[in-house]
Amino acid sequence: MAAGPQREILRDPWLKKQKRKLLEIDCRGRVVLPGLIDSHTHPVFAAPRLVDFEKRISGASYQEIASAGGGIRSSVAAVRKATRGELAERVLLALNAMMAHGTTTVEAKSGYGLTTKDEIKSLQAIHDAAAQWPGTVAATLLAAHVVPPEFAGKDDEYIETICREIIPRVARAKLASFVDVFCERGAFTLAQSEKVFSAARSHGLGTRAHVCQFTPSKLDSLLSFQPASLDHMDCVASEEISALAENGTVATLLPGANYFLGHHDYPDARRFIDSGVAVALASDYNPGTSPTLSMPFVMSLACTHMKMSPEEAIAAGTVNAACALRLHGRKGSIEPGKDADIAVWDVQDYREIAYWFAWNRCSEVVIAGQHVWSSTRS
Ligand code: NIG
Ligand code: FE
Repeated sequence: MAAGPQREILRDPWLKKQKRKLLEIDCRGRVVLPGLIDSHTHPVFAAPRLVDFEKRISGASYQEIASAGGGIRSSVAAVRKATRGELAERVLLALNAMMAHGTTTVEAKSGYGLTTKDEIKSLQAIHDAAAQWPGTVAATLLAAHVVPPEFAGKDDEYIETICREIIPRVARAKLASFVDVFCERGAFTLAQSEKVFSAARSHGLGTRAHVCQFTPSKLDSLLSFQPASLDHMDCVASEEISALAENGTVATLLPGANYFLGHHDYPDARRFIDSGVAVALASDYNPGTSPTLSMPFVMSLACTHMKMSPEEAIAAGTVNAACALRLHGRKGSIEPGKDADIAVWDVQDYREIAYWFAWNRCSEVVIAGQHVWSSTRS
């Protein structure tokens, strides 16, 4: 894109040639931002988890529900049964709803298939949906989400399957840019997570992890793989934070999950920011812990519950999120040479985007220079 003062831009030779084809959008009185980047989502699922929702309302915790057979495992059966086409349709529906909330780039994970075939089917569904959507999608393999039922008690065998079979096949078919792992009590240990990272690296894939969501973990061994991002980060020990800053790894905070699980505590954004760690915000869109795809709502939570300023929240949902996906060369800011992905907001002041919580004020979306969505057209 070209960006700058109008008089300068109009001298641009390419623009002069295209003059008759140009569409002018008058944004006076509105706020223009780079398109939002949702750098952590789980859109490949078949149904909401309403039983879990009600159980939690009656007082059960996320971990109690999971160990009683609910949780992630209860989404797996439906994804295994669904066809690639059905899943792609659901993913596309989510991508379009995200776009209507100002999101133009999305990271999308598999993770509810948990067999070679079903993880590949999930990633293919992401690619099928992405091909019908104007924005950019980065796909992530999350086969290491939980141990599937058929490997119960044999979690190391499942890790072997991931490392020897799933990662190589996914890498060969170029179905994912990243490999993710849920490093947590009840999911995978640090040693198992390192194995997954090591296989990802040897197949040329980037790494990212769900870590420190419910229980603290040491981070140095994961950081040695230069992950693009470590996500959730609710309970991180102080000594881990400086290592994070030195490593250039982004901390992606997901307050939608804290909100939906009814937690009183939120990730300590201030501690990361004040220590020089780049913080990104993402929706964590998924059926178990964060059924929202609204980045403006997540930004509002970050301001009210995590004491991030509105400008920090916007940076976290744009330029820092671009770094979390290693797309900062192309995305995340309105700058000459970057992709023309832009969201226009029907507010007079940028602070209103997070202020009007759960009210979507996005009014226009431009992706790669094309006007793809308008609140007045839909
Ligand atoms: O990011 N923590 C692990 N994964 C998801 C939850 C997925 C689910 O419960 O279905 C998360 O919160
Ligand atoms: Fe997640």
